[in-house]
Amino acid sequence: MNSNCSKPLDGKDKNKYYYLVNLGCQMNEHDSEIICAILENIGYLTAKSAEEADLIMVNTCAVRKKPEDKVASLLGKYKILKDEKPGLIIAVGGCMTQQEDTAAYLRKRFHHVNLIFGTHALPRLPELILKAESSNKTIVDIEEDYADREGLPVLHSSSFKAWLPVIYGCNNYCSYCIVPFVRGRERSRSYNSIISEAKLLAEKGYLEITLLGQNVNSYGNDLPGSCHFADLLNGIDRISGIKRIRFMTSHPKDLSLELIQAVKEGDNVCEHFHLPVQSGSNNILKIMNRRYTREHYLELINQIREMIPGVSITSDIIVGFPGESETDFRDTLDLLKTARFDNAFSFLYSPRSNTRAAAFADQLSHAEKEERLERLNEVQHSISIEVNQSLKNKVLEVLVEGPSKNNDSMQTGRTRTNKLVHFPGPSALTGRLVMVKITEAKTWHLTGELEGEIS
Ligand code: 5AD
Ligand code: SF4
Repeated sequence: MNSNCSKPLDGKDKNKYYYLVNLGCQMNEHDSEIICAILENIGYLTAKSAEEADLIMVNTCAVRKKPEDKVASLLGKYKILKDEKPGLIIAVGGCMTQQEDTAAYLRKRFHHVNLIFGTHALPRLPELILKAESSNKTIVDIEEDYADREGLPVLHSSSFKAWLPVIYGCNNYCSYCIVPFVRGRERSRSYNSIISEAKLLAEKGYLEITLLGQNVNSYGNDLPGSCHFADLLNGIDRISGIKRIRFMTSHPKDLSLELIQAVKEGDNVCEHFHLPVQSGSNNILKIMNRRYTREHYLELINQIREMIPGVSITSDIIVGFPGESETDFRDTLDLLKTARFDNAFSFLYSPRSNTRAAAFADQLSHAEKEERLERLNEVQHSISIEVNQSLKNKVLEVLVEGPSKNNDSMQTGRTRTNKLVHFPGPSALTGRLVMVKITEAKTWHLTGELEGEIS
């Protein structure tokens, strides 16, 4: 995704222009908003394309091989631009560069890269760019020093919904996952700084806040006193102006009753849990180091549904983990049929260097993984469409995000349960809360008719 954060200026002038490409998750997108703000603070303006830029910034992801391959292909393309314009600065940051071996590979293979910086280097980015501008060597900063991020500028990509990180890093070490290696140990932000930031967003007119963390349920474990994620949700729920509070991601092993209660009771907390199960087989969950069983997981979602009628639950599934037998895979299909998720994001297992699972025996072939992914998607898609069909004729609150990509006269937005809704209406509704009557339901989206405006 290309995510330039502010409007480009027309025409060429003496100003310096930057172009940013973001390849990762929501936390990466938020980091990109910080990077954009830092670049603009030091005099860069946003360019319409890579061709027009004086500085190209790639914010990378290391969670699977596919986004890593994309970095290699982009850097190859940017080499041609740099040959034409030798003063062009190319900077690569994010999760991929935080690893020593990948940073070394990038440095060796792409000599035209001026700056390589890891996830912890954001506070030092202004000096790093100045250095990169005046040096003909590649500048590298991949220190794992957890530099303080409080007070860094943010250029929000939306004027009505915002990301708000609450905890950085992860301590769980699921055996497939690179995140603990590239984002470091868990560090919770203080309750007061999160509340102050949320209040500021409310004052600026933001309606929706998404609280971010690799595992939001761990929030507060590393803070003095006993402040947990549910307390944070309760605190933000009391801020007037914020109409929707979302959070992601939750780990099933430590999702608490207090959290379910906070979602149930919070007026503005959206009724949606993204609760990655990863596999429906107890054997696989064990070697994934997930520390819960399928039975516990299913109990948990039953409890959520009992306490919060109409809640939506989405999940992530990894297909083709090392050693996954046909029986293990069928356990996953069976879990999907029992859990009846609103939606599930499915991924082919991708070995990541330094993780334990990459060294496991019994790696499955790509063809086997693909075949299972197809079967899994078939099962989940038919469930998603059935679940969505049950919303027909209901009138739902939608936060309008803007005109739909393919048709200007259709607006796109999301329900509180995070379902995508398309409906005919004027683009002046962008950023507004409206009521939409659902007339049609598909696997990935709903279609409806505007019933009225709320705000
Ligand atoms: N291979 C495939 N999928 C992965 N994920 C994390 N690591 C890997 C990997 N090595 C998936 C998990 C996680 C989501 C963000 O990405 O399902 O929940
Ligand atoms: Fe990765 Fe597991 Fe941490 Fe999620 S909880 S970021 S899957 S190690």
